[in-house]
Amino acid sequence: MKTILTGDRPTGKLHLGHYVGSLRERVKLQNSGEYDKIFIMIADAQALTDHADNPAAVRENIFNVALDYLSVELDPAKSTIFIQSQIPALFELTAYYMNLVTVSRLERNPTVKNEIAQKNFETSIPAGFLCYPISQAADITAFDANVVPVGEDQAPMLEQAREIVRKMNEIYGEVLIEPNIYLSSNETCRRLPGIDGKAKMSKTLGNCIYLSDDSKTISAKVREMYTDPLHIKVTDPGHIEGNVVFTYLDAFCEDKATVAEMKEHYQRGGLGDVKVKKFLLEVLEEILTPIRARRAEYENNPDEVMKILKTGTEIANEKAAEVLNRVKRAMKINYFE
Ligand code: TRP
Repeated sequence: MKTILTGDRPTGKLHLGHYVGSLRERVKLQNSGEYDKIFIMIADAQALTDHADNPAAVRENIFNVALDYLSVELDPAKSTIFIQSQIPALFELTAYYMNLVTVSRLERNPTVKNEIAQKNFETSIPAGFLCYPISQAADITAFDANVVPVGEDQAPMLEQAREIVRKMNEIYGEVLIEPNIYLSSNETCRRLPGIDGKAKMSKTLGNCIYLSDDSKTISAKVREMYTDPLHIKVTDPGHIEGNVVFTYLDAFCEDKATVAEMKEHYQRGGLGDVKVKKFLLEVLEEILTPIRARRAEYENNPDEVMKILKTGTEIANEKAAEVLNRVKRAMKINYFE
């Protein structure tokens, strides 16, 4: 059996970093026909670990993320799209896994560490937040997933999930499946920089292009993109390292020969930023126009979107309950069976 599980926190609309880092890969995997089951989770409970005071925003973003999924052609006939908080088995599994993980191991998780610094939690870290890698291990194992397509920033989560699986299996017998991370083969896509040239596209940094941005917004964002500050006159030789426009061409343009030619011309001198940006804009628009159109369609049919989520959640619940029973039996806490 080949099973995929992956997901996103509903803390905002999804952006191009999500698209090339994960969404586009998921759709490819979905359409490859190589997977028996595909589960895509909207991780609202995880979003609440650091947005407990704003459940309304999380609720609204569940809908936004669902629209993003459907608009990039995650297909509910092939992929089960569901909402994390509606799967009780996940919380039971989390409780049992918690006994196998030390607080210091959680504090050492690089992703958690980064986020704690970024959010200025300092010593007031919500316990639920600190433990979210454990709940993420539950998310993955509850579906017997062996393939987890995610961005590079999630690698420490997968590492910790694998540790939990090994511990569970060691103590209770072979009860869980060890998951593998699946990263995009295109290096540039694993961590897309923001339009300002900062290492990561992120909502907090305010340097995103969203899948739902309209043409005018995207055109303005491409115009202000960070290029080479030393490339002043068109005739000056330019640098492509750290030049976001070229990084994006590597991530989005299928025509590698044209990109290589442009890079060469730019480095030689004589190719202006305006021209390269115009080309990038065309490349992005070709990808985003059909996505935008499908988004608009679903946006006008909110009942249909909710129905997709409800059906997906029912299917997910059935699978997770089955795995939970298996775990409880292995732990010998199935007293009344
Ligand atoms: N941590 C992921 C994010 O921040 C979301 C997520 C929750 C997830 N559970 C998961 C990803 C399980 C992969 C597998 O977007």
